Amino acid sequence: MSGKLVLVVLMAGLLAAALVSQGRGGVALADGGPHIATGSDATPDRCASCHRIHTAETDTLLTSGPTEMDFCYTCHGTGGTGSDLDVQGGKQRSNNSALRAGGFDFASINTTDPAPDSIGVLGTAQAVTSWHTADGTTAGTLWGNGALNSGAGPSFTLRCSACHDPHGNGQYRILRPIPAGSGATEPANVTDEADPKVYSTTNYFEPGPVSGIQMSSWCATCHTRYLASSTASSGDAIFANRHVSDGTSGRSCTKCHASHGTNAGASGTYSSVGYPGGGRGTTNTAESRLLKMDNRGICIKCHTEVLALTVHALEAPAPTPAAVMLQGDADCDGKVNSADAFVIVRDVAGLNGSSACLAAGDIDCDGERTSLDALGILRYVAHLSVDQPAGCPPIGAARTVTPSRGAETSSPTVAPSPTPEASAPSARGATSSQAS
Ligand code: HEC
Ligand code: HEC
Ligand code: HEC
Ligand code: HEC
Ligand code: HEC
Ligand code: HEC
Repeated sequence: MSGKLVLVVLMAGLLAAALVSQGRGGVALADGGPHIATGSDATPDRCASCHRIHTAETDTLLTSGPTEMDFCYTCHGTGGTGSDLDVQGGKQRSNNSALRAGGFDFASINTTDPAPDSIGVLGTAQAVTSWHTADGTTAGTLWGNGALNSGAGPSFTLRCSACHDPHGNGQYRILRPIPAGSGATEPANVTDEADPKVYSTTNYFEPGPVSGIQMSSWCATCHTRYLASSTASSGDAIFANRHVSDGTSGRSCTKCHASHGTNAGASGTYSSVGYPGGGRGTTNTAESRLLKMDNRGICIKCHTEVLALTVHALEAPAPTPAAVMLQGDADCDGKVNSADAFVIVRDVAGLNGSSACLAAGDIDCDGERTSLDALGILRYVAHLSVDQPAGCPPIGAARTVTPSRGAETSSPTVAPSPTPEASAPSARGATSSQAS
């Protein structure tokens, strides 16, 4: 089929799509800039922002090239004009704030942030260490794409419009429900946020105004075999047992990964792991895999290192007003989360860090704070049942304040090692996950 004929066919398709959307009532979808799909518009202006009919620079008749990425960067690049969103530098120009997706060349994620429930933003952007190679020319492995036991994934050349629909579609960030080339048959819709849209973030651990379940399903249109709702074996030779990633309890793809690129480092002895099935990455010298924290810092955002590995602490439930002391809220921040368990463990271990609300840490009302109280809080945070005697206020409920036990008097009953580096080295080599 000649290029011209393809375009005619495609034009017909576009017309059909326009008619379909007219059927929806001709409502303009709330997408930004020129990316607006309208129901009916006899004299659209926006086509000319992107297409030239006789003097185009790409075979999709775009105003500039040679690659589609170059074209998008005329508005969305660091030197671009025409959009507030600089995805190359990872910044929103008007207020110099950090974009949610990170960035393709620079990103401002505070990848060493020790705060329990947040990943903050750097004042100065850093060069990225891994990114989705969207230049439309470099082929990479489409990790996990395809049926069970079909290898690590096919070779794939990614471009911006594989993921985004430049003509607008009313989805969150104009994401295509079926990304081009994904091979998906079921659309994965991601519901758009209400206007006005907020493209920047101050906390990368908050994956934004989207449903984690929808977002994970969307990423999995391409990375099919990464989507897991249990750790049971999938039957695949490579992607066999997997951490839950379907968005339940906050475990969505974008909780751990940035969508465009990250400045995280992964130079630790054990963190620079090989690619699945011994396959190779494209751009990712530091093996940081679009992660939002250095090495495996992302793990201990949810799993506290102190009570390590037997207990899993999750995201805090919806914040409660901090007016009264809440049962379990040992650090007085108005919510019960893993940070409270941490405060109690430190107290039990005789480490400093006392708080005016330590009394609220005695969740089993036995008059003492012990590691069992910390464990109870972590169970609560993980939505597991917590044994409390009758008459003892449930975790999260208001608590009548009784004076705190002498905070720093007890001798350590737990010997936590608060620094990640203190853990014993294992015999696993740095690349042992790579199949040979
Ligand atoms: C924001 C930039 C932008 C605007 C505005 C825009 N286009 Fe496009 N258009 C593109 C890009 C990029 C492609 C290539 C997409 C691809 O390869 O999948 C494209 C592809 C096309 C195609 C090929 C089929 C397809 O959908 O991929 C047609 C036809 C088309 N555009 C027509 C139009 C018309 C008519 C308008 C105005 C109503 C318009 N475009 C507005 C960027 C734009
Ligand atoms: C002519 C300038 C222009 C070009 C070219 C352009 N964009 Fe945009 N884009 C905008 C504007 C304007 C906005 C709205 C945000 C803002 O105010 O800057 C926007 C918004 C977006 C958004 C957010 C949409 C939403 O629903 O929130 C995405 C994603 C996006 N563009 C992707 C692309 C991609 C991919 C390309 C290349 C195929 C591209 N853009 C080319 C001007 C442009
Ligand atoms: C692998 C899929 C993928 C590719 C390729 C991709 N994007 Fe995105 N993009 C996303 C996702 C997902 C988001 C939403 C991120 C979020 O909210 O966490 C996004 C967000 C955006 C935004 C909104 C600002 C932000 O950072 O959140 C713009 C603008 C944008 N993309 C433009 C582009 C351009 C231009 C390209 C090509 C240079 C591109 N994207 C390539 C998936 C992709
Ligand atoms: C709990 C955090 C977490 C979640 C949730 C998560 N990932 Fe990952 N991902 C990682 C880590 C860590 C790596 C580095 C490799 C490793 O340790 O196995 C990685 C690696 C990857 C890679 C690179 C290839 C590889 O396996 O090394 C891809 C692709 C990927 N993840 C896709 C996804 C997708 C798609 C989802 C959602 C369906 C997802 N991830 C959810 C943490 C996560
Ligand atoms: C259109 C298909 C497509 C979609 C949708 C997509 N990816 Fe990818 N992804 C790729 C390809 C191709 C590669 C390998 C090339 C590369 O590394 O850029 C890749 C690589 C990765 C990697 C490994 C990067 C590295 O360091 O080697 C991670 C992690 C990842 N994707 C996560 C995600 C997440 C999270 C989402 C959803 C926000 C997502 N992907 C959506 C195509 C896709
Ligand atoms: C968004 C929060 C979150 C992050 C980030 C996270 N996990 Fe988990 N993880 C969980 C939850 C929730 C469970 C299930 C807890 C339970 O059932 O007791 C879990 C379970 C596990 C399990 C036990 C297997 C299972 O599902 O029962 C292991 C091992 C594990 N995680 C390792 C990791 C590692 C390694 C990382 C870093 C790459 C990580 N987790 C990051 C929330 C998280």
